[in-house]
Amino acid sequence: MFDGKRILIGIGGGIAVYRVAELARLLLRRGARVQCVMTRAAQAFVTPLTFEALTGETVYRELFDLTAEREMGHIRLARQADALLIAPATANQLAKYAHGICDDLLSTLVQVREGPLLIAPAMNVSMWQSAATRANVALLQQRGHRFVGPDSGELACGESGPGRLAGPEQIMRALWPLLTEQRLAGQRWLVNAGPTWERWDDVRILTNRAGGRLGVHIAEQAAAKGADVTLVAGPGTPQACATLRRIDVESAAEMLQACEREAGGGDVFIATAAVSDYRIAAPHAGKLKRGHSETHHLELAENPDIVARIAAMPERPKQVIAFAAERERHVDHARDKLRRKRVDAVIANDAGQMGGDHGRGWWVDGERTIELAGGDKAAFAAQIIQHIMENRQ
Ligand code: C5P
Repeated sequence: MFDGKRILIGIGGGIAVYRVAELARLLLRRGARVQCVMTRAAQAFVTPLTFEALTGETVYRELFDLTAEREMGHIRLARQADALLIAPATANQLAKYAHGICDDLLSTLVQVREGPLLIAPAMNVSMWQSAATRANVALLQQRGHRFVGPDSGELACGESGPGRLAGPEQIMRALWPLLTEQRLAGQRWLVNAGPTWERWDDVRILTNRAGGRLGVHIAEQAAAKGADVTLVAGPGTPQACATLRRIDVESAAEMLQACEREAGGGDVFIATAAVSDYRIAAPHAGKLKRGHSETHHLELAENPDIVARIAAMPERPKQVIAFAAERERHVDHARDKLRRKRVDAVIANDAGQMGGDHGRGWWVDGERTIELAGGDKAAFAAQIIQHIMENRQ
């Protein structure tokens, strides 16, 4: 995702500066070129040398740094970057950006920069909640700037509440949309993900090993390309970046209800969820006690096939994509599902991948079978999206 991208990090003066070092390292590891600008206060927490050593690049500090001016100039520095991230953004920095004050290098770069910034605030909870900061954040959001975090939790100052710098993974995920061509702008996508829980009694459930990560990657990457994405998430599905609408559900019945409500007239429905094919026919109220016989028979009732139901809706999405997790004859089973469920494509993969870190498989549609070489789940998701985009044209 970050291969060859030039990310400029504006580092404000807060204790969270040390966490930006880890973020810079991760961005570099994912192929980005990272340049840093530090405010004077930031340098009181961590020396510029730390970031110079990490990135192999000059750390810019002063507006009137003549060498830097001759080599590059602050205007070019701001414009050449593919994305400008402010982390940590302090209350003072936010106030400056909101009101056009440019009395140091970083605030000048922000003023000069065209296009959205990604702002990762970190500050004391009272500063974050103050009327002035709230108003400044609202103003910056109105201008199209994006925020990631702050997270809630224990703060370095000993208080607790919202104010912690968002985690590096979360920041990186929020950076994607700024770097990605908005090829899906104006489209509505619905993704379901994760396992389902079918109630047996008040404490026991019938479920499976699915973790929901592939669905989250697909949903995030589609959103990063500008789609309006709704994620219907089964239990335990990891959090996605904030630009998604998420509906949490437990059972297949709840998942069906949410999907039917959201799918009508959409562009894409992609059914990554490992929906339980059966539910307990008569769930028990309270907690079942151990019986006296050595065996216990459970009666199961068939669940509705969500993807088939969505594909049969009168206002069905333009593309409905199902998955086929199999242990053998993957493509044959996928072709069979394509016909039975009346979907536009089926992605065949190996059931052994469920819950793991990697994915690969085959794209199977009415005419073709194409191997998807896969990789980690993010790379697999990217290949699936690429096929969905090509299939549409
Ligand atoms: O029929 P099978 O479960 O093998 O097909 C898998 C595909 O069907 C997946 O895309 C899954 O999300 C979907 N499915 C569904 N509702 C079910 C069972 C599976 O939508 N009850």
